[in-house]
Amino acid sequence: MEQPTPRTTAVVPWLLLLCLVCRAPQARAQPDHNDFISIDCGLPGETGYRDNTTSLYYTTDAGFIDTNAGINHNISAQYINPSIPTSLHSVRSFPSGERNCYTLGSLVSGFKYLIRGQFLYGNYDGFNRLPIFDLYIGVNFWTTVNISSSDAAVYAEAIMVVPEDSVQVCLKNTDRGVPFISGLDLRPLTIKLYPLANETQALVLLHRFNFGPTDETIIRYPYDPYDRIWFPFVDMTDWAEIKTGEKVKIDDELFQPPEAVMQTAVTPQLVSKNIEFTLDLQSFPSDLGYIHMLYFCELEHLPTNALREYNFYRNDVLRHSNYTPPYLVNDCIYSSEPFQVDQYKVSLNATTMSTLPPIINAIELFAVIPTTIQGTDTQDGAIICIHELARWSLS
Ligand SMILES: *[C@@H]1O[C@H](CO)[C@@H](O)[C@H](O)[C@H]1NC(C)=O
Ligand SMILES: *[C@@H]1O[C@H](CO)[C@@H](O)[C@H](O)[C@H]1NC(C)=O
Ligand SMILES: *[C@@H]1O[C@H](CO)[C@@H](O)[C@H](O)[C@H]1NC(C)=O
Ligand SMILES: *[C@@H]1O[C@H](CO)[C@@H](O)[C@H](O)[C@H]1NC(C)=O
Ligand SMILES: *[C@@H]1O[C@H](CO)[C@@H](O)[C@H](O)[C@H]1NC(C)=O
Repeated sequence: MEQPTPRTTAVVPWLLLLCLVCRAPQARAQPDHNDFISIDCGLPGETGYRDNTTSLYYTTDAGFIDTNAGINHNISAQYINPSIPTSLHSVRSFPSGERNCYTLGSLVSGFKYLIRGQFLYGNYDGFNRLPIFDLYIGVNFWTTVNISSSDAAVYAEAIMVVPEDSVQVCLKNTDRGVPFISGLDLRPLTIKLYPLANETQALVLLHRFNFGPTDETIIRYPYDPYDRIWFPFVDMTDWAEIKTGEKVKIDDELFQPPEAVMQTAVTPQLVSKNIEFTLDLQSFPSDLGYIHMLYFCELEHLPTNALREYNFYRNDVLRHSNYTPPYLVNDCIYSSEPFQVDQYKVSLNATTMSTLPPIINAIELFAVIPTTIQGTDTQDGAIICIHELARWSLS
């Protein structure tokens, strides 16, 4: 995996490339009613549409990128079906240029945002060649997009404090296929959310799962006011779903999981069993480590002689003992500092006192990345150029 190392070669072409990219006229972002920016990359024409599932308004990418950069394509017809959001039906691909950037403007400097790129290859070019390329937020390396199948959408998400009133999302060609993008979302968060995202470090999402729903429900806006996407995690052979129609109180300023996510949970089918699972770190080595949030809420009204009590182990090391989830109020076990691991395994094991097996409602796992720009090497010249021009063209 590539790290954000300073460039030492090809100073002048790099500068020129950046300046060309940012000289594009910037249309004002058309935020949704809640300051969301939702871009359907590769959508032809000028007008957007309201998405049927989320009711969010998607715009074309025309105002966010140099009009000469990239080529619009539709994905191949065989990959279009009702379960694929409209925003994934078209892509913009970048066969030329080492680095192509979108500029998201009208932001508030110092505020926290969720930024999400969406990538569905869908054999848009007819070559059936799955590309791998890198994403940057400004000059900071974000993640590698590794398209491993034509019909699987890849989501890249970061939570970060934006230092300027605009932010650039850049696709970098790493000679492993042509970079492309299907959609780009920006969602304002509150500054208190995800406290480990701050001025010097951002969070890259590796997993966000909602345990329980057996009907494959994906929860996002409007059920999640921040439009985080909660994918269902079910294990039909070992786990049973628990759910409630009762109100769950979200008593939490730091993560605010949606009520709909907290209203479902899983528990082992056999009372004598425990909950164990591993999550892939997605070959994302992180120098700063990883953080997680595990969400719990008791959904069953337990008789007074019953006890649900368990220990939480991360990679077989006890992290939290004798835990009992509160009834119809959300609770979260989370990292206050990043941890370093090579694998990520969760065990929720009932204590000997417990009469009931463990439950879990949701989980998030992030890698922490640095966002500081340090030093005064040649790349900083280019950074200043791109920021100055972006600001200038926005005003
Ligand atoms: C939204 O739903 C309506 C009615 O079901 C349909 O006619 C329209 O094509 C849909 N729009 C999009 C963008 O999918
Ligand atoms: C993609 O499909 C739409 C109709 O669904 C069409 O208007 C548009 O021209 C197509 N784009 C390309 C690049 O072929
Ligand atoms: C891309 O994904 C494939 C399949 O998951 C994996 O084998 C390969 O190592 C990955 N490549 C990179 C560069 O991460
Ligand atoms: C961001 O958080 C990290 C880890 O908690 C901390 O070391 C760093 O000083 C923080 N940065 C700022 C600007 O607060
Ligand atoms: C948790 O319970 C499982 C059996 O359900 C057991 O295999 C595992 O060793 C236990 N983990 C710890 C850390 O005790």
